[in-house]
Amino acid sequence: MKAVAYQNYNSNIEIIEAAKPELKDRSVLIEVHAASINPIDNILHAGYLHQMLELSFPHIMGYDVSGTVVEVGKGVRSVKVGDEVFARPNQEDAGSIAEFARVHENELAIKPKNMSHIDAASVPLAGLTAWQALVTKGELKKGDKVLIHAGSGGVGTFAIQIAKYFGAMVTTTTSSKNSNLVKSLGADLVIDYTTQSFENELSDYDLVIDAIGGDTLTKSFKVLKKGGRLISIKGQDTENLAKDYGINFEWFFMSPDGDMLTELATLISQGIVKTVIDSTYPMKQAPKAFEVLAKGRAKGKIVITIK
Ligand SMILES: NC(=O)c1ccc[n+]([C@@H]2O[C@H](COP(=O)([O-])OP(=O)(O)OC[C@H]3O[C@@H](n4cnc5c(N)ncnc54)[C@H](OP(=O)(O)O)[C@@H]3O)[C@@H](O)[C@H]2O)c1
Repeated sequence: MKAVAYQNYNSNIEIIEAAKPELKDRSVLIEVHAASINPIDNILHAGYLHQMLELSFPHIMGYDVSGTVVEVGKGVRSVKVGDEVFARPNQEDAGSIAEFARVHENELAIKPKNMSHIDAASVPLAGLTAWQALVTKGELKKGDKVLIHAGSGGVGTFAIQIAKYFGAMVTTTTSSKNSNLVKSLGADLVIDYTTQSFENELSDYDLVIDAIGGDTLTKSFKVLKKGGRLISIKGQDTENLAKDYGINFEWFFMSPDGDMLTELATLISQGIVKTVIDSTYPMKQAPKAFEVLAKGRAKGKIVITIK
């Protein structure tokens, strides 16, 4: 099968011929229609996480997939050949920018009929991260005041809509060119981070979702009320600040979850949550897609079309 891969950290991203993944018990083989890309793909390629996660080479890229089930392994009960599904596969099954991908049945969801493969592929990693940050870790409640950083990005576009669905008052940071986009997703207040200092304008927030890290993360403590929650997906040691401000701080890595993805799929099929696609690229232009992603200016998700 054809797959998008690299031979070593920082080496060229190219299309290679690779063996189809071997089916395992409780897993399915998917013929991939579309796969979206995420900053983690570029981070791994650059070798930044090699001490935490040693890759084997050639390394096939990609953590988001939408396609058709073509084979089912022993013990699979929830899906059958021909079903259209989408997923964020676990680390062992990662490598979705390929003609075929293996996914454990617990990590997939049935693709709603009114959602295209491109839209479906844009959802899993970013959508689950947003849900887990707000709901699982952030314990979001109706009426909470929430600040979502980078509301125009892959994670942020889902986070704004999920927070509104749970009845929050949502403020988000982005640059002015994305103001209309984030308002259309439900943001109540937009802070242009290029001209405004959010930490001087906001106070008494219940929850902040940080996707930026650095100064943005440390300044975010100031806008929270005592006992508020700061959930970061960037990661950084801020234990002392958290103690000083009396804030519950946590940073985490998202995890695959088919049931949660099914809940999200229902909201999308009902039009409550919309996917935002920055751009699509055919498989042969995947290297270009990763360059565009690395600029950090995507509005929503970048998707690679495979079939
Ligand atoms: N821990 C986890 O499990 C996990 C999961 C997913 C993602 N992440 C991390 O979370 C971050 C965001 O991911 P993503 O997929 O949403 O990235 P993305 O789609 O590449 O984010 C791009 C967006 O970020 C906005 N942005 C950039 N700098 C900003 C700033 N200083 N303030 C406000 N907005 C800013 C940009 O808006 P402008 O063009 O207006 O600047 C752009 O729309 C990445 O670092 C990623 O690695 C972590």
